[in-house]
Amino acid sequence: MPDVELLKEQAGIAACRFVKDGMTVGLGTGSTVKYSIIEIARMISEEGMSLVGVPTSEDTRRLSEELGIPLLTIEDSGSLDLTIDGADEFDHNFDLIKGGGGALTREKVVALKSKSMVVVADHTKKVEILGSFDLPVEVDSDLWEGVRESISRICPGQVRLRANGPNPFQTDNHGFILDCSFGPTISNPKSLERAICDIPGVVEVGLFVGICDAVIVASSDGIDELIKSDGRI
Ligand code: 5RP
Repeated sequence: MPDVELLKEQAGIAACRFVKDGMTVGLGTGSTVKYSIIEIARMISEEGMSLVGVPTSEDTRRLSEELGIPLLTIEDSGSLDLTIDGADEFDHNFDLIKGGGGALTREKVVALKSKSMVVVADHTKKVEILGSFDLPVEVDSDLWEGVRESISRICPGQVRLRANGPNPFQTDNHGFILDCSFGPTISNPKSLERAICDIPGVVEVGLFVGICDAVIVASSDGIDELIKSDGRI
């Protein structure tokens, strides 16, 4: 297994110490949280824990079903006890950029329905200021050109329509994704989130502000548990 893959696995498994018997858990999307999902399946089958998952994407739903995790849809779930998810970047305020996998809308809905959110990441995701990773914005597929024009007025770099081969990438909600090159300039993520969400045609923006309570970071030095001091964990 390449090094970074091992770090992802370590972070994914370590985060499961927050999972307790009887919980309903939001299951994020991506190559790091995949290891948390595998661990949750193990906790059910080997430790006899009673857990229910709420998947944030069709990929995660398929994986969870294959692993035998009992599931609820987002619509059918009430309040969730915990969400575990990955991130593309996190800063010292525990604010995040997400959506590298295109699942940001459902990920945000699930995280906001949860009593707490734990992020799993390797050390490369930690940044001083958000924005080196292009900010994903989900948009209505019929309105993307106008939205791109509006975002271009506030984005210093390029605003690109995400592609899937020769076609636009389509989200599980049949939206498109605009990847916006802000560079490491997002020092006030809340106001940028608001400004982008106010553009008609925007479905959701991949800034998660004030939602994450802890980040489990794996590096070659081991696992670091960063817990937000005024968070919910
Ligand atoms: C998907 C996401 C992912 O959580 C994010 O892209 C991190 O993924 P990975 O763990 O594969 O790096 O936001 O929409």
